[in-house]
Amino acid sequence: MSALPSDIQSDPVAPAELTAIHPADTAEGVAQWWRSSVIYQVYPRSFRDFDGDGNGDLAGVAAELDQLAELGVDAVWLSPFYPSPQRDGGYDVSDYCDVDPIFGTLNTFDHVVERARELGIRVIVDLVPNHCSEEHSLFRAALAAGPGSPERALFVFRDGKGADGAEPPNNWQSHFGGPAWTRVVEPDGTPGQWYLHLFDSSQPDFNWDNPAVHEEFERILRFWLDRGVAGFRVDVAHSLVKKDGLPDWHGRPDGVGTEDYPGHLAPMFGQPALHDIYRRWREVLAEYGEDRVLCAEASIDPLDRLVNWVRPDQMHQTFNFAFLSCPWDAAKYRTVIEESLRAFDSVGAPTTWVLSNHDVPRHATRLGVEGVPARPGDGLGPEDQQPNLQLGQVRARAASLMMLGLPGVVYLYQGEELGLPDHTMMPHSFRQDPTYRRTAGARLGRDGSRVPLPWNSAAAAAGFSRSGTTWLPQPAGWDEFARDRQRHDASSTLSLYTAALELRRKKDLGHGSLSWLSDYDDTACLAFVNRDVLVMVNMGDTDVRLPRSEVLLTSAAGAVADGCLRPGHGVWVRLM
Ligand code: NOJ
Repeated sequence: MSALPSDIQSDPVAPAELTAIHPADTAEGVAQWWRSSVIYQVYPRSFRDFDGDGNGDLAGVAAELDQLAELGVDAVWLSPFYPSPQRDGGYDVSDYCDVDPIFGTLNTFDHVVERARELGIRVIVDLVPNHCSEEHSLFRAALAAGPGSPERALFVFRDGKGADGAEPPNNWQSHFGGPAWTRVVEPDGTPGQWYLHLFDSSQPDFNWDNPAVHEEFERILRFWLDRGVAGFRVDVAHSLVKKDGLPDWHGRPDGVGTEDYPGHLAPMFGQPALHDIYRRWREVLAEYGEDRVLCAEASIDPLDRLVNWVRPDQMHQTFNFAFLSCPWDAAKYRTVIEESLRAFDSVGAPTTWVLSNHDVPRHATRLGVEGVPARPGDGLGPEDQQPNLQLGQVRARAASLMMLGLPGVVYLYQGEELGLPDHTMMPHSFRQDPTYRRTAGARLGRDGSRVPLPWNSAAAAAGFSRSGTTWLPQPAGWDEFARDRQRHDASSTLSLYTAALELRRKKDLGHGSLSWLSDYDDTACLAFVNRDVLVMVNMGDTDVRLPRSEVLLTSAAGAVADGCLRPGHGVWVRLM
């Protein structure tokens, strides 16, 4: 382990004086696994390729679940593995109740759930209710049936504006760039209506004003609940319902108001009618017992509004993107952690914490960028200033140690336990993210954080696929991050995560409480106590003296020297 247990002799602190801003869970809360769990996101196409076609698959997931059990996770969330033309990495679903042949079959899926159950790991699947693929049979039927048909009423079709209907029905923009409307050619060959797609034109939005859509998604929920899933991560949970009349929107495309439009509710973001949908879904889940969960991917600001989604009759969890986007700044982390705990506590929901996922640059890359990245949001490319990988690694390990010390739910993204950075030198010819195409390369998209994982340093494609093929290229030196190299190396990132997860479980930090150690409030050092563990991360430029304590875990060898925590590092200590 990177921890070198040792005693630090310094000023004593008295934990008894600490005031918890977040009290430990009650007995009822402790019984609910989803309040404290560590959930590991598997992006199946890049996890592990079992059949050698260059795409990860569900057989690969089943084969490597032992590794995740060894890491110590409680559950896995599988990003979409459904039949899909893969125009948006599987978030363009053409059949919600099957498995794409590149990933396997329903039998392979059942095998994953069964193997996971044997290992004590729950399986959460991704539900994509805002839109489907243009190849979904319902959308094909809608195109064939023509204007005014019940088939079209499942989607958001409108006549265009202007004399010949050649202008889109409103000014909405796609999240991936360009207009959010595409005009169809009617069955008789004439230019016709327009359909709404908040994302790629291959992803038509469903019409959630139509009860038939509600029925269809209840059927889908039950299909997977019957197969034993522990719950659903709900994609774009904030956008299903659109405001009546589809009015123009002059704020930002991500739903955030502008100065001219302060606090305005975007007509496709967080509409009040959404809450009844999630109330109904919670009832459906409850029919299967109390331990099935819903986690919202909801881009809703501020936190006080977001928590409306996790009131006791709606979702169980929602991702905390305010935490994910916090820069390397102790005061800012202090604020976002405190505001998160207060806001979620106010509705009795657990706070979730996440640093990386398949939509953003990995935190080992983000934290290695000094100043503001030239290209914020999507990934970095060969033309951009390259991140300082060493700095990113050091800080990422400290940030992870901070996150794993917090009470609540932690989401990990596959490969962060290996310290993986993004592929920031990926040649553009490989890019698959629709954002790249729809913005003519102005935004690079998210491929850099979706690179196939390295498993075995001595094997082809770093052990991802026995054929040596990978659907996205791996960067040079990827084998150095391979799991086999890290498993038995006490100083590796994998060993750090494994040790932190073990201690987190042993000390029940997930159900614990949080108090700031005010001695450090004025410094660039974040310091909080959970149970008997003091978590400290030094985000400043100078050494910080540790209190009298026993070191439990350090973010890297050399993090603690002469009783001080070095800049960029983190530590878990037990106060003495
Ligand atoms: C959020 C998903 O995480 C992202 O990958 C996807 O492109 C959009 N939703 C659209 O489904």
